[in-house]
Amino acid sequence: MDDTPVITIDGPSGAGKGTVAQKLALTLGFHLLDSGAVYRAAALQALNCGADLNSEKSVMAAISDMDATFQPHPDGVQVMLGGIDVTPQLRLETTGNAASKVAVMARVRESVLDEQRSFRQPPGLVADGRDMGTVVFPDARLKVFLSASVEVRALRRAKQLKDKGIEVTIESLLQEIGARDDRDSTREHSPLVAAPDAFIIDSSDLSISDVVTQILAVIPQVTVAE
Ligand code: DC
Repeated sequence: MDDTPVITIDGPSGAGKGTVAQKLALTLGFHLLDSGAVYRAAALQALNCGADLNSEKSVMAAISDMDATFQPHPDGVQVMLGGIDVTPQLRLETTGNAASKVAVMARVRESVLDEQRSFRQPPGLVADGRDMGTVVFPDARLKVFLSASVEVRALRRAKQLKDKGIEVTIESLLQEIGARDDRDSTREHSPLVAAPDAFIIDSSDLSISDVVTQILAVIPQVTVAE
């Protein structure tokens, strides 16, 4: 039984989980797990090996000897694959979509469980993803489910991409985000769903700092290990 406190933040892509989790971890002095980065790294490894993303066997063969490291970084996490910094590739839409495909596979999910749980170190952990509160850390002290309307998430993503000089249509983003939501929520293993004991926040009309304030207001009791 591990008493190290964990705060989980689950929800769909673009709800602001990553930034909220980073700010919370910084405020509390806790470690941070961006579990999406773990699935993205696995997807990148599979893509680099030319694996068939529709075949669990092919993906497992590609990732079974994966040498990935995850280091804290001011912008989130720095990921090395086989000693090479793949952080920029990790954030591409193509990698996110590939991650969503390999994440439906039970053996892939099983193979990254220990890696994710190893982030639970004193004084505490903030973990963001899809199944942090339901499967990976069911004993978390606080479970947050952060959502936002698909329209708001598409607009936020369009702005992020525009800031990077990439122009996309809202229609294409709506379609991509809708497809990813669908795949993440309807898959058989660890689907994206709020834990029954989750604190649900809709961030559609909230800023990141509003969300962080709401969470901080309910966690005084979880910040110190018993
Ligand atoms: O949060 P993200 O966009 O970086 O995640 C990329 C994909 O990884 C997402 O579409 C689904 C998958 N994922 C998952 O299945 N379970 C998690 N805990 C985190 C991510």
